[in-house]
Formats: sequence, structure tokens, C-alpha cells
Amino acid sequence: MRLVSKIAIIKEPCPQETRVAATPETVKKFAQMGFDVIVESNAGEKANYLDGDYKDAGATIAKTPQEAIKNANIVLRVQINSASEIENLKKDALLIGLFNPFQNKELVEICAKQNITALSMELVPRISRAQSMDVLSSQANLAGYKAVLDATQHYARAFPMMMTAAGTIAPAKVFVMGAGVAGLQAIATAKRLGAVVSATDVRPAAKEQVQSLGAKFVAVEDEEFKKAETSGGYAKEMSKAYQKKQAALVEETIAKQDVVITTALIPGRAAPKLISEKMVKSMKPGSVIVDMATSAGGNVELSEGDKVIQKHDVTIIGHQNIPARLATDASALYAKNLLNFVSLITEEKNKKAQINMDWEDEIIKGVALTHKGKIIHPHFVAPAKSPSKKTSAKKPAKKTTSKTAKKSTKKSTKTKKVAKG
Ligand code: NAI
Repeated sequence: MRLVSKIAIIKEPCPQETRVAATPETVKKFAQMGFDVIVESNAGEKANYLDGDYKDAGATIAKTPQEAIKNANIVLRVQINSASEIENLKKDALLIGLFNPFQNKELVEICAKQNITALSMELVPRISRAQSMDVLSSQANLAGYKAVLDATQHYARAFPMMMTAAGTIAPAKVFVMGAGVAGLQAIATAKRLGAVVSATDVRPAAKEQVQSLGAKFVAVEDEEFKKAETSGGYAKEMSKAYQKKQAALVEETIAKQDVVITTALIPGRAAPKLISEKMVKSMKPGSVIVDMATSAGGNVELSEGDKVIQKHDVTIIGHQNIPARLATDASALYAKNLLNFVSLITEEKNKKAQINMDWEDEIIKGVALTHKGKIIHPHFVAPAKSPSKKTSAKKPAKKTTSKTAKKSTKKSTKTKKVAKG
């Protein structure tokens, strides 16, 4: 336990990141909890949160990021992407944000070397007590909604059925692949717009959820499907045999769709490829696909990260950071998630906030990547050398950085670029 007083929020250095890690509302709460809060000037500008409102909420405004983070005990961030963003932090500081640790393993090592306690919010366990801190859910929910709106923008027809004097317009057929948080919101949004919606997933629990939203569930429901959910509630990587059966079903379904939204992810792995070029070819001219998984390599063979392209008369949308396209609401929910997490690790003493981390707490164990100069998260600690394998023990530890997802976004297919997202 130690005395703590300062929380810093900076302007996100990644130019595409429009979100901010605290809003005037959460700053006010931090100030009430006894923290000194310092916010870099214009930190919330892209999300429509202005310096004056942060000031009124009790924050001090700093001119530069260096000034903001100087001596800060807690730094709240959205995306942490590079070593330079860690360099000037106070030793022992808590850095809380999205580290994308499965694809950014070097960053985890750097945090350990710099003696930073890195807390990765993507790793909040999916348990009821942690729901208010679950950034994946809060952001995926908004992303699912926005993906449908993005599709409507590029679809040259209407979503609802319309019966007019000039003739009848048929409703759009929307197929959602992956019915997790983003997929379920996409289903609900497409239904609200009047589309005829169907959806698929490999987890049996998704069936009832899809049907309860009024959509049709389409899936290969074999023995493997019945066991496809991990104890953490996530999907497992499916066998080659299942993938083949699933591809046949998708092929048959997709040719009849106007809009397809793909959301399928497997934590820590490249996204499963669900739509081949042949399937894209089978769609009607003017159809739209939104690939929400491009930052993990994509569910669609042809999609390109952060691009809207046209292939075989089908528009394929590949925005990588969809929540950033709804910066105000995405920041508000993300900032609340962080406030709830900071409350979990704080106690008040003499009207001053103090960090008090319970290292036995499942949530803290789930998110903590590094502490006191060491990598402590079981997923990222280098495996212990096995005494039985004498030959391999002599070799230096293999670098575990996974480039799979990054590689698969770098496709060289010739495409007609329509717009950059
Ligand atoms: P996700 O973002 O990891 O994946 C999206 C969806 O893709 C998942 O539904 C997954 O089953 C599906 N998928 C993966 N491979 C697929 C394939 N080959 N074909 C078709 N679909 C595929 O999932 P998300 O949204 O993070 O949700 C994961 C689970 O966590 C869900 O069961 C969700 O209900 C649960 N959850 C629980 C919470 C809690 O606090 N109890 C909070 C939020 C989510």
C-alpha cells in the first residue's frame, strides 16, 4: 500500500484514435475520490470533451503529455502502441489501457523493463462482478451498431420493406457471422432498420440469443458445435472438418444475402477466415460486406484493414477501429469502465486516494501484465525450460511474437479503392 495522488490523462498519440480515457464526468468522480487529476490540453477534443469542462470538473490542464504524466501514479490511456509512450512514466506507475498484448508482446517486455505496472483492460475476465469494467463489451456493442450504419451508407437500397404507389421494395437480407456482443448489437440494429436478419456462431449459447432478437440461427450444429465454448465463454478454434462443413453452409447462405457483417474472433489468435473470394463472387452486385475483424487479420479473404474496397461488384468495408468512429459515446463508456476499475484498486485515507491492489483478486490477476520489473501474466511469462529436453534447454528462448494477424492484413490483391476509413 502506498500514498497516491495523481492521475494523468493525455491526448492519444495515434492520429486515428479519436477516443479519450476520461470524460469530465469521470474526472469529477476521481477528484471526489481524492485524486489530483491532470489532463493534457485538447485530450478530449476529437470526442467533443473540451478543456473547460475538464477544468470545471476539477482537473488541471497540462500543456504537453510530458507535463501531464510527470510524477503521475496512474496514467489512463485508450491504446498503448509504442515504447516511446512508456519512456517518461514514473517508475512504479500504473499504466491502464488497451495494450493489445497478444499482438504487442514487445510492449509487455518494455513495461516490465521500465518497472511499470501494465494493466491491460482487454483482459478483464467475463464474470458478473467485472461487467462494469468490461471494455471489450462496451466498445463492441457500439461497434456492432456502427457497422450496420456503415453498411447502409454503401448499400444502394433501403433496409426496410416499403410498399408504395410506385411499387414495393423488398427488405434487405442481412447475415451476421459471430453472435457475440458486436454481432448481437448488429442483429438488433439491422432488425430495428427493418431488415430480414439471420446469424451464425460456433457457440451453442448464441442460438437462443440470436433467436430472442427475432433473427434466424444458421449453423452446423454437430457434436463439435455442442462443445465449442470455453469455460471463459469464448469460441474455440474449430477443427478443419468443422471449418469445411461450415464453409459449405456459409457458401449456400451467403449467395442469398444483401449485407453480411462478420464479427468472428478467437482471443489470442488470428480471426477465422469465413468468407472466400468465391463466396464474394457469388453475391449479387451492390451487396455489402462489413469485416469487423480486420485488426485480427479479417474474416473475409479479400478485406483490407482501414479501407473500403470493391471486389466482384461487392463493397467490402474494413474499418479497424470502429468504436473510434463513435468517439463521444465510446469514450464515455470506456472512461466509465476505467473509473470502475480504478475504484476497485483504490481506497480513501484522510481524504486522499490510495492504491490498494488485492493481488489475489481474479480481476486484477486477469489484467496485470507486469509488476515490479517482471512479466506476471501467465499468458506472457516465458515458459520455464524443461529439464527433460536437454537439447532445447541450451537454445535461447524463442521469440513468441505472433505476426500472423498483421501478415494476413497485408494482402496484395489488386483492388479498387473507394474510400479510406
Ligand atoms: P468475440 O469478440 O471473442 O467473438 C465474436 C463472436 O465470434 C463470438 O460469439 C464467437 O463465438 C464467434 N466466433 C468465433 N469463431 C467463429 C467461427 N468460426 N464462426 C462463427 N462465429 C465464430 O466474442 P465476444 O463478443 O467478446 O463474446 C464472447 C463471449 O463472452 C460471449 O459468450 C458473450 O456472451 C460473453 N460475454 C460475457 C460477459 C459477462 O460478463 N458475463 C460480458 C460480455 C460477453
